[in-house]
Amino acid sequence: MRVLGLETSCDETGVAVYDSEQGLLAHALYSQIGLHAEYGGVVPELASRDHVRKILPLINQVLAESHSSAKDIHGVAYTSGPGLIGALMVGASMGRSLGYAWGVPAIGVHHMEGHLLAPMLEANPPPFPFIALLVSGGHTQLVKVTAIGCYELLGESLDDAAGEAFDKAAKMLDLDYPGGPQIAKLADSGTAGRFIFPRPMVDRPGLDFSFSGLKTFTLTTVAAHKQANGLPDDQTCADIACAFQTAVVETLVIKCKRALEQTGLKTLVIAGGVSANKKLRADLETALAKINAKVFYARHEFCTDNGAMIAYAGCQRLLAGQHEPLAVNVKARWPLNTLPPL
Ligand code: KG4
Ligand code: ZN
Repeated sequence: MRVLGLETSCDETGVAVYDSEQGLLAHALYSQIGLHAEYGGVVPELASRDHVRKILPLINQVLAESHSSAKDIHGVAYTSGPGLIGALMVGASMGRSLGYAWGVPAIGVHHMEGHLLAPMLEANPPPFPFIALLVSGGHTQLVKVTAIGCYELLGESLDDAAGEAFDKAAKMLDLDYPGGPQIAKLADSGTAGRFIFPRPMVDRPGLDFSFSGLKTFTLTTVAAHKQANGLPDDQTCADIACAFQTAVVETLVIKCKRALEQTGLKTLVIAGGVSANKKLRADLETALAKINAKVFYARHEFCTDNGAMIAYAGCQRLLAGQHEPLAVNVKARWPLNTLPPL
């Protein structure tokens, strides 16, 4: 089965063609980062308008690159939530209408299920069952995954998501949006140990997270430095970025290890934008090797938002016979554990 996948939940227009026999045939991404940068974050109305402008040319490009014409496409998958409603509506109405026009089924895909399954696109996919750490701009969740669609939520952030914390800390250091990659880059030249940030909630039992305290700690660290020494110099910003990243990564590693130990599982999948973080990947590899467990993640470009993960997840559901009625339905909020199994 050959599936066209569309992702428009936030600030990237992602399009891909995935074939269940031949794998990923083509994918393309248009990032709106430049459009939103001057506002320091995503402006929903501008995002929707830009998806409208970019989506058809991208579909045309990806169909050509995958050597597919309309008659070769057996189904259409689009992100139907969670995300920005206006942005979701663009991909959903486009995807549902293409399915109608081409006489093929269409399926709405959960954005976080897309992220969770993105490592399946790699040459060495993770075996079920596994623990998934979903870390994006809107979510931080630990999920026990027994099969596609069988998701048990073990823990989640009680306030800010990990990516959101990266973005907010970056703003305090005057870095551009999105802040995660900027903090990671700056942290490379930071001196470990000059600033020590707390590891929130690690001494409490359970698998929930809280990152808003780290945001406040960053703010007070920057303010204290300003009062004593004036505006922080480049090295001080790098040292703060390094302390912040270390605190987030260490917290995530501790909770991942705990989830594996509590469930007796030996496989961890990390997915979502923050799973692109090099320190998170490296520290998890080291920590998990000691408990005989293994971490899996997607290539860098499939950690952040993309169309390939939506085409893949949609294809699995379409193959199982699932599809949408003609009425287009999108959801700003949508708990992952309410999805049907295959
Ligand atoms: O999955 P994603 O592209 O979009 C959402 O579904 O939210 O995740 C975006 C988030 C942003 O908060 C961004 O700052 C963060 O992922 N991110 C990173 C890195 N790359 C992206 N955070 C830390 N380190 C990175 N290398
Ligand atoms: Zn995402």
